[in-house]
Amino acid sequence: MFSDAQTDFISIFRERHSVRYFDPSHTLSEHEIKELLTLAGTAPSSWNLQHWKFVAFTDSAAKEKLFSIANSQKQVVNASVTIAILGDLQANRNVETVYRPIVQAGLEDAYAGYASYPTLIGQIEGAYANATPTYRRDEAIRNASLAAMQLMLAARAKGLDSGPMVGFDADAFVKAFNVPTRYIPVLLVAIGKATKPARLTTRFSTEQTIVWNGFEPDTTL
Ligand SMILES: Cc1cc2nc3c(=O)[nH]c(=O)nc-3n(C[C@H](O)[C@H](O)[C@H](O)COP(=O)(O)O)c2cc1C
Repeated sequence: MFSDAQTDFISIFRERHSVRYFDPSHTLSEHEIKELLTLAGTAPSSWNLQHWKFVAFTDSAAKEKLFSIANSQKQVVNASVTIAILGDLQANRNVETVYRPIVQAGLEDAYAGYASYPTLIGQIEGAYANATPTYRRDEAIRNASLAAMQLMLAARAKGLDSGPMVGFDADAFVKAFNVPTRYIPVLLVAIGKATKPARLTTRFSTEQTIVWNGFEPDTTL
């Protein structure tokens, strides 16, 4: 069980930073890892299709294999668990799993809400039947990324540290871990106990990031 969980959401946001040095002797139980992934999986997704799959690396041989694919970033082996978040290019195939129990329980009106159940299925199938590879990829990446962000915040809330990584060879990952063509690797997230704090980082001022009500015509930046 996690001992130092906290729920002050603003602190969790502020305290999350990308840790690169983890205590290799710290372990997480399968139950604790599942708890983090359950929280990550509460992320929103288009039509609730939940375009993510999590590959959890806990085994030292598998972590070593990942290390060679992830630009020799030590955190993938020293973290208690490294999670590869994959995005689903065929998330329309989740319709049945997501919506059938709702229909069987006669709750489709309440759940579909904004559209009748058959309309909803039609929208999803229509979107994916005509989908360009770019659309599928965009959907996979944006939805899986939301789950990845939640995973890092969930880890912080449970008193753990995390580090996201896109510095890995996605094609080699697919080969090494037999990833079906349905999925694409999106991000690795190392999770564990920090042995060194994250590097100091800054952010743009909020003023630098806001555009109110659209850009002026012909804005050059
Ligand atoms: C999509 C993405 C990919 C990243 N890839 C790496 C990586 O491969 N290796 C690494 O050490 N940090 C990686 N980072 C961490 C960033 O460097 C870090 O988030 C950024 O500098 C801000 O620092 P902070 O997260 O500590 O606030 C990545 C972050 C994101 C969001």
